[in-house]
Amino acid sequence: MLGRDVEGRYRYWNDVQLIHRALPEIDFSEIDTSVSLLDHRLAAPIVITGMTGGFPDAAKINDNLARAATEVGVAMGVGSERAAVLKGQYPESYSVVAQHAVPLKFANIGAPQIIPQGPGEPVVGADEVRAAMALIHADVLAIHLNFLQEMVQPEGDRRARGCLERIGALASEFPVLVKETGAGISRSVAEDLRDRKVRAFDVSGTGGTSFAAVEHYRAVDQGAEREARVGKTFWDWGIPSPVSVLELVPLGLPVVASGGIRNGLDVARAIALGATAAGIAGGVLRAASTGYEETRRELELLVYELKVAMFLTGSGTLEELRQAPYVLTGESRQWLHR
Ligand SMILES: Cc1cc2nc3c(=O)[nH]c(=O)nc-3n(C[C@H](O)[C@H](O)[C@H](O)COP(=O)(O)O)c2cc1C
Repeated sequence: MLGRDVEGRYRYWNDVQLIHRALPEIDFSEIDTSVSLLDHRLAAPIVITGMTGGFPDAAKINDNLARAATEVGVAMGVGSERAAVLKGQYPESYSVVAQHAVPLKFANIGAPQIIPQGPGEPVVGADEVRAAMALIHADVLAIHLNFLQEMVQPEGDRRARGCLERIGALASEFPVLVKETGAGISRSVAEDLRDRKVRAFDVSGTGGTSFAAVEHYRAVDQGAEREARVGKTFWDWGIPSPVSVLELVPLGLPVVASGGIRNGLDVARAIALGATAAGIAGGVLRAASTGYEETRRELELLVYELKVAMFLTGSGTLEELRQAPYVLTGESRQWLHR
């Protein structure tokens, strides 16, 4: 994926303009970025959202991420654990994370895997979820919704009927966050999930990594003409990340704002919209693939930029930043006035 253009075509976070406060009336050194997310205390409102695992090189990437997340005090998730729990593939590429005291860890399973996709196809049930969580000593299970991606994969899973009820069954047994993977979550889907005891959302909206794009290239490489075409057509499909955040915050559950978060100002914008934390994946992938120092530096820069935005809006705490005035412009504004 590194080296290929897989970004959405429009930067929706630039539509959120925080208002400059010429007289901040706080000292930069006083600024407190700490927050509680799902009963865990983070030094900064950042989640490295699930990316990798299931192949040998992923161990190093997850190790870099987990070490840096521990050092900086932010949350992290791993990539889909399907291969590890259903086929026993490369469990050590995930379990490296268990060796670090990351303040909040998310296990990861895809919604298509919790229902039968065909005769004899293995299904992730409560036992497999328990194993996925134990592998990284997870606090919370992230269930990802990725039906756009499945539609661009030549071998993609096309069955979705019954996912909601299965998510509800798992949410009655485990603390569950439901996340998208770059196409956003609407209010009505979130209400259905809230009614089934899901504890939090990660919107992962449009405007960052496009999984239609990622799978478009794979389909081209495989000579899958139809899926390559669908990937191009649906490159920017989905709900813009800031719009999804504004739709979900009134439901009263914690919202992780992700999809296109690329710097600390974007993190501040997400908090101002009411998110509890911001999630980032593609923006830390290069650093995580390079080394621990690079990963830690990138996270520290995100936190520093967040603090600059807090200073310039006169926000000493994230609670105050949540009250900071902003102007919504561009396409995001048009979405909300539909
Ligand atoms: C290389 C890569 C692999 C990913 N794999 C997963 C995954 O296995 N499970 C998952 O829930 N999300 C996965 N994601 C999605 C991210 O968690 C995130 O929702 C999405 O990339 C949008 O955030 P971004 O714009 O910051 O990249 C992956 C993202 C990337 C970049």
